[in-house]
Amino acid sequence: MAFSYRDGVLHCEDVPLSEIAERVGTPCYIYSYKAIVEGIRSYLLPLAEVGGIACFAVKANSNLAVLRAVFGEGAGADIVSGGELFRAVRAGVDTQKVVFAGVGKTEKEMEYALRMNILMFNVESWQELELLNEVAGRLGKKAPVAIRINPDVDPETHPYIATGLKKSKFGIDMEEAEEVYKKALSLTNIEVLGIHCHIGSQITKKEPFIDAAERLFSLIDRLNALGVNLKYMDIGGGIGIRYKDEEPPAPSEVISSIKDEVKKRGLTLIMEPGRSVVGNAGVFLTKVLYVKKKAEKLFYVVDGAMNDLARPALYNAYHEVKSVVQKEDSSVIADVVGPICETGDFLAKDRKLPEFEKGELLAVMGAGAYGFTMASNYNSRPRVAEVMVRGNEWFVVRERESYEDLIRGEKIPSFLLGV
Ligand code: LLP
Repeated sequence: MAFSYRDGVLHCEDVPLSEIAERVGTPCYIYSYKAIVEGIRSYLLPLAEVGGIACFAVKANSNLAVLRAVFGEGAGADIVSGGELFRAVRAGVDTQKVVFAGVGKTEKEMEYALRMNILMFNVESWQELELLNEVAGRLGKKAPVAIRINPDVDPETHPYIATGLKKSKFGIDMEEAEEVYKKALSLTNIEVLGIHCHIGSQITKKEPFIDAAERLFSLIDRLNALGVNLKYMDIGGGIGIRYKDEEPPAPSEVISSIKDEVKKRGLTLIMEPGRSVVGNAGVFLTKVLYVKKKAEKLFYVVDGAMNDLARPALYNAYHEVKSVVQKEDSSVIADVVGPICETGDFLAKDRKLPEFEKGELLAVMGAGAYGFTMASNYNSRPRVAEVMVRGNEWFVVRERESYEDLIRGEKIPSFLLGV
């Protein structure tokens, strides 16, 4: 366990969280190196059996140290922007293990990725393919491509993070796929290499993955008959984690259910895990500023807020809240809220929690994925520090922003200065 109580204090690996709070201050994110490595290995090992590639979804956690840790194990990257590519390159990714998804790639981003010789563009529309062909031609290159297919399966997750349904903006519909592949073959600067899908995130059953893979297999066979021979099958990310009581499948279960069909077709399997690699490898550490008892409700006002960890406010997501100093179970019901001027600014709602006092430290669990990466400066709050723990050592892997950082790049035009 990356986070456990020892002598009554919550530790990350061998470091008490209270020690980090004292030295770095709160709020901050804390990641366990060991848990990150275990997370990525849970994909790398079963994928190695089929000669597959794990491309870590950078959007889940893009801190350079975290990226370095997963790339160091042999993973590549799934990116959705030039900025993510920049980070991945800085962290030493093997660009031949980079896949680039996203419905709105710009010309500039295409150029950058082509120059970096990435493995594949996961193309989401016909217009995108035409533009990519043009850009590649201009650079005297051939763009390696997989077509993102929308397999229309229901991943049974939060509607905001379901991406494989027909009504979503992602991918190309099954019915159009053959046509698009045929046209793609006619583009001189495009090299058609693969097929891609990603059906959603925080999926806690293996069936939707198998369902989507089966739909892709039958499409791959139809394409084969048309003379389109593919090398890569990328089934995206999406395996969920336990936030509360979910029982998601292990990556090995998903992989073993489809590996024979993959092998039979001579395909290389690619997966793009994010959350399941880093989600439970991180916590968000915050401090109780005030205990506020109102007639109707008890509020723990903490120094962390929705700008630091958006998931509760945005998706009504559940994150367990633990006290850093272990406490007797008690039965107060409270909201854990931040200092931001919005009612939606909560980290936990109507939660059974111990009785906390002013100054106590709380750990918001399962915050390693889509935590810091979704943080903003709303209410002009500097973004928090990030810390990585390895054994009994810890490292600040991103410094807390300063007030100066908040205004970097802003200028007051001279007419407003009266000069
Ligand atoms: N590949 C593609 C093309 C994706 O769109 C995503 C996530 C992934 C891989 C990684 O999925 P994962 O293994 O992490 O489930 N902000 C939301 C999650 C959005 C996920 C978007 N796409 C949240 O906090 O729940």
